[in-house]
Parts: sequence; C-alpha cells; structure tokens
Amino acid sequence: MTQNKIIEFLRASDGYISGEVISRQLNLSRAAIWKSIEELRRDGYDIEASPRQGYILKSAPDKLLPQEIKDGLKTNIMGKEIHYFDEVESTMDVAFRLAIDGVAEGTLTCAETQTKGRGRMGRTWSSPKGKGIYASLILRPKLSPTQVSKLTLLSAVAVCEAIQSTCEVKVDIKWPNDLLIGGKKIAGFLTELSAEMDQVKFVVVGFGINVNTTLPQLPAGSTSLKVESKKTILRVELLKNILISFDHWYQRIFTEGFEPVMAAWKTHSSMLGRNIAFNDGQKTIEGMAMGLDEYGGLIIRTRNGEVIKRMSGDVIEVTT
Ligand code: BTN
Repeated sequence: MTQNKIIEFLRASDGYISGEVISRQLNLSRAAIWKSIEELRRDGYDIEASPRQGYILKSAPDKLLPQEIKDGLKTNIMGKEIHYFDEVESTMDVAFRLAIDGVAEGTLTCAETQTKGRGRMGRTWSSPKGKGIYASLILRPKLSPTQVSKLTLLSAVAVCEAIQSTCEVKVDIKWPNDLLIGGKKIAGFLTELSAEMDQVKFVVVGFGINVNTTLPQLPAGSTSLKVESKKTILRVELLKNILISFDHWYQRIFTEGFEPVMAAWKTHSSMLGRNIAFNDGQKTIEGMAMGLDEYGGLIIRTRNGEVIKRMSGDVIEVTT
C-alpha cells in the first residue's frame, strides 16, 4: 500500500525528505504522493510540508493502524497480517469469517470500537472508542478440542507479561481468563473454536483490555491501565508487546508442551492456595483453589473435603 510505504520512508529519513526523492524511490508520481499524504493526514498523521525541503513526519495518531503495529515488529507468527477497523460489531466475528476464508495463522483483527463486543457467558464487553484494545488472533494449532482451554491460559500469561513490562504495574491472573489489578478487572479473554471430532480447524482468541479508559466508561468492578498506572499508555506499543509475548509462548508449546505455560500462569496468579467462592452457573461452591488440572480446569477442595474440578464458571470471591 502506497501510504504504508510513504510512512516507512518518512520514518526512516533523518529530517525533511523531498517529494522528488520519495517519487523516485517509490516510483510514484508527485500527485500520487500528495494524495497519499492527504489520506495519511486524514488518518491523524501530522506530516509537515515545506516548499523547499519537502515532507517530515511529526507524529503518528493514537490508532491501532496496521502500519504502526507492524513497524519494527519482530514476530514469527503473530500479527504478520492485520485487519483494522474503525468500528465493528465484534472482532471475534470478523476473525471467524477471515479464518473460514483461510487467512494465515497469527492474523490479527482489531478495532477502535465494537458495537457488540462480547464476553464469556453471554456478557457484553464495553468498548469505548480509541480507549482500549479490542482484538482477536487467529490460531491454527494442531491440538484436540480438549486442549484448547489451555490456550486461554496461554493468552492470559502472554498478555499479563506484556502489560507488566510495558506499563510497570503488577497484574494478577484470575482463573480462567481475567486480568486484575488490585482486585479489579483490566482485561478478559474469549476463546472460540471451529473443530472436527478430534482436531481443531482454527481457534480465535479475543482479548479486551481497558487501556486509557476512564472509570465512568467502565462497568463496576473494572479499572484501566491509565487509572492504575497514572500514565497514558501507548496502545500501539502495548499491542506490539502483546504480539511478541504471544509469539514467544505459542511457539514454546510446540517444543515444550503446556508445562511452562501452566507454571508461568501459577506464578502470576495469587488465587491458588486461597479460599474462594466459585459459581459454576448453578450454585456457589466454597473451598480452596488447589491448582490446575491437565486441561487447565480449576481444582477446588470444597469445605467438606471433596476435591472437584471445574472447566467453566466464575471465581466470585477470593478471601484468605
Ligand atoms: C470476558 O472477560 O468475558 C471476555 C472479554 C473478551 C472481550 C474481547 S474484546 C475483543 C474480542 N471481541 C469481542 O467481542 N470480545 C473479545
């Protein structure tokens, strides 16, 4: 795309670069360059033009534009292809359609806002425009459907570590798929799949992160990275770090299995060994969170000493 090439060019140049040089190097007419620069400005790029010296890039917009995310991104699988939208109903649906059409593994769909963002168990995901990260990754792992829940644990580990290193905040993982700061939710994951009896066709992992969201924009019990770190976070930088972290953990499962993921998950979760109240959709169970089973399910020792496993549900309270 011409615009991507021009941005790459402007970024790489030290100071002003003349329209003539861009035109020669990219083999484009001056009129085509001028048109692309106008489009880039409409996208929010601040490109200054001087009649004598040419063009200079002053700043990039705070948008999750593919050329921004791909700039210097060193991943093997994740984010090689990115589909960006100003507004969608849900990035999950877009990703599902792309996956059916056969796009490459690691393709990312992201949007500035979602009108029907969804969470687990039929909940909605609030997606204020330009404030959060609303994204879905397409994976094509050679796994049986029973293994897929472990990808949710992997997602939580990958995003938790990327947030911690980018924003310098301590993040806690709550089973199965919530990221918390100080007990309040900052991110959630949704894993959906298409599978045959014993083989996954593809998996879509969606993640929603409250980045620069203000408290009135969020549901009760949630917070944002900006509120907690008292800093405005560069969403592009965070998303790049998430893709790098995802790439690392995802490739590891094919050489080392899920053991390292499970071990990392445990180090990031303060819940294990503590008393919890758990709602499995039908009733509330009180007991101690003991650990994870081989499928990523939660092992609970109930108050009457019985050891049970749950693959879905909500930890509604963590006490002592
Ligand atoms: C949860 O905590 O219940 C999961 C929330 C997942 C939200 C993300 S935002 C991007 C993707 N698109 C959606 O509609 N949902 C996921």
